[in-house]
Amino acid sequence: IILLFSSLASGYFLGSLNSAVIVGKLYGKDIRSCGSRSAGLTNTLRVLGKTAAVFVLVGDVLKGIIACFIGLIFFEVYFYTGEAQDSLSLLVAGLGAVIGHNWPLFFKFRGGKGALTAVSVLFMVDWILALLCIAFFILIVAMTRYVSLGTISATGLIPVVSFISVFGHTFYFNIFACLMAAIIIIKHRENIQRLLSGTENKLVF
Ligand code: G3P
Repeated sequence: IILLFSSLASGYFLGSLNSAVIVGKLYGKDIRSCGSRSAGLTNTLRVLGKTAAVFVLVGDVLKGIIACFIGLIFFEVYFYTGEAQDSLSLLVAGLGAVIGHNWPLFFKFRGGKGALTAVSVLFMVDWILALLCIAFFILIVAMTRYVSLGTISATGLIPVVSFISVFGHTFYFNIFACLMAAIIIIKHRENIQRLLSGTENKLVF
């Protein structure tokens, strides 16, 4: 339990380093009062442009990966036995990173929507699932030009694929998948309302 709590807490602290808020400050703006007011990659691209978005992309991906490595260190026996996917501390640390990103300790608990950090965590725990989600995301965005709809659809895929037993996921992995999907979709409430009312922002490229 102490091990798991330490993993969750370290993931959370790391996730709380919200790249979009930090990069926004460097550009002299609070990203949370511009555009969709989300502290994430999509809004950074929208408000601050491509260079800023690259920094956010690297930052958010790195923190997801580093959080998982910290989780692995907390339970390194799994690392050596090659059963990293079943390591609870790894899953918990990754979940912590996404919670930290969405509700950051250092930035008044107002963060982003967690998709990018979540996908980097997914790469660490199940890269096939991560690739499936990315492919589905690209497909939906290409068809509709709505990034949020792509994210929501790909997020919904996480528990669905996890529960399909052919992929051999554990009970804990299924719980992880449901929680991960829930904390991302909860953050898309405003997007869902805008999608339903036909006022959601479209990708402009
Ligand atoms: O991953 C975030 C994306 O789904 C929506 O971002 O800024 O359009 O609300 P945004």
